[in-house]
Amino acid sequence: MSKVAKLELDNKMYEFPLVEGSECERAIDISSLRSKTGHITLDEGYVNTGSCVSNITFIDGEKGILRYRGIPIEELAEKSTFIETAYLLIWGKLPTSQEIKVFSNLLIKNEMLHEDMKLQFEGFPAHAHPMAILSSMINAAGCFLPEVLNPDEIFLMQAARLISQVRTIAAFSYRKSLGLPIIYPKPIYKYTANFLHMMFSEPYQDYELQPEVVNALDLMFLLHADHEQNCSTSTVRMVASSKATLFASAAAGVCALWGPLHGGANQAVIEMLEDIHKSGDDGSRFIEAAKNKNSGKRLMGFGHRIYKNYDPRARIIKQKCDELLAVLKREDPLLDIAKRLEETALNDQYYIERKLYPNVDFYSGIIMRAIGIPMNMFTVLFAIGRMPGWIANYKEIYDAKEGRIYRPRQIYNGPKLTHYTPFSERV
Ligand code: ACO
Repeated sequence: MSKVAKLELDNKMYEFPLVEGSECERAIDISSLRSKTGHITLDEGYVNTGSCVSNITFIDGEKGILRYRGIPIEELAEKSTFIETAYLLIWGKLPTSQEIKVFSNLLIKNEMLHEDMKLQFEGFPAHAHPMAILSSMINAAGCFLPEVLNPDEIFLMQAARLISQVRTIAAFSYRKSLGLPIIYPKPIYKYTANFLHMMFSEPYQDYELQPEVVNALDLMFLLHADHEQNCSTSTVRMVASSKATLFASAAAGVCALWGPLHGGANQAVIEMLEDIHKSGDDGSRFIEAAKNKNSGKRLMGFGHRIYKNYDPRARIIKQKCDELLAVLKREDPLLDIAKRLEETALNDQYYIERKLYPNVDFYSGIIMRAIGIPMNMFTVLFAIGRMPGWIANYKEIYDAKEGRIYRPRQIYNGPKLTHYTPFSERV
């Protein structure tokens, strides 16, 4: 196989080295393109652009493969926990029993917010979206803990603080949005159980933790823990590349995740399923409408920039939906509609030709509904899950001492040189 790519431009020949990843993905290294040729590449939406070399997550979108640090997502889903997986992502290896103990103790030690942060929560109006609160409060948490602004602070401590506190902030923002008293974390509970406790306990009565519910939510967090260079993770890396703090970079990640084409899709899926249910459609009318670009509709939870096959996370979540609803002895008409939509779409030429399959968001909302998580918190839960991935990517940037600031170029297509005119001469 060739080691260089050749480019012919203006009757001159240029050579660029090829780079090969550990899973044989190949790229043309064009870092010298502009200095050699005076040209840049143009790739709107970064469809063909590798922004970095990373050791964290591998995805083969054609085959539907997802691995964290080489371990298949299916194995982690079956055998690991969210916190162990977080450790794996951030430090590149599964922890020993001593390491996980230290990490868990740090999570407990850091689960409380600074008491004055409660005043910050007071400043948000009742209808504020919890994603807005989350991003603001993650940034604010950095101010309350000045040592996180010190780049020499032990990274382990910072990571533990962020993973632990994002959950406390999320639960507080939910309670605040309902005008309910804040519930403090309890050190005896593990990570996910503690989150459910902070969400649903009352000062006079603890929420009854069901192992199946805790397990389903822990799995949800684990499945969301990383997904290589998606919109929010790229945002985190972009901000981190300016040497901004971990908390500031993570807050930016939350903002990027919020949109309905990214993490906000889990909420959009349930809204879509509810609309279909209310309208009495069995899904077939919606499937047709989503094919028409002028309809303003898309089959939310379907399609993915990278996966041109079934998203492996969607398969795991779909199975967990069935198990959880059976344990809770609950039926959800939205799950039936979702399954019907999936079956119809997977047999429809439009979706087949475009390789549109269910993504992670298609079934995740059904699980969250079953647990009692309100819809405006769905993307917040995604953010809690994604935090280890953001931290792992931040660490890659931070550890790369030679790393450069991310700064894409553009092709300017605005007015040519023009001059300032005073008001009196403007038409
Ligand atoms: N419903 C109907 N048609 C779709 C859908 C969909 N959900 N997704 C893509 N298409 C069509 C497009 O209209 C386009 O058709 P064309 O070739 O006739 O122009 C073709 O499939 C390619 O779609 P693009 O939008 O170019 O694909 P892109 O990679 O830019 O977008 C995205 C990927 C944003 C995920 C898109 O599939 C989408 O909007 N899906 C619905 C939202 C969603 O579920 N987002 C969550 C993604 S997973 C995550 O972020 C966690």
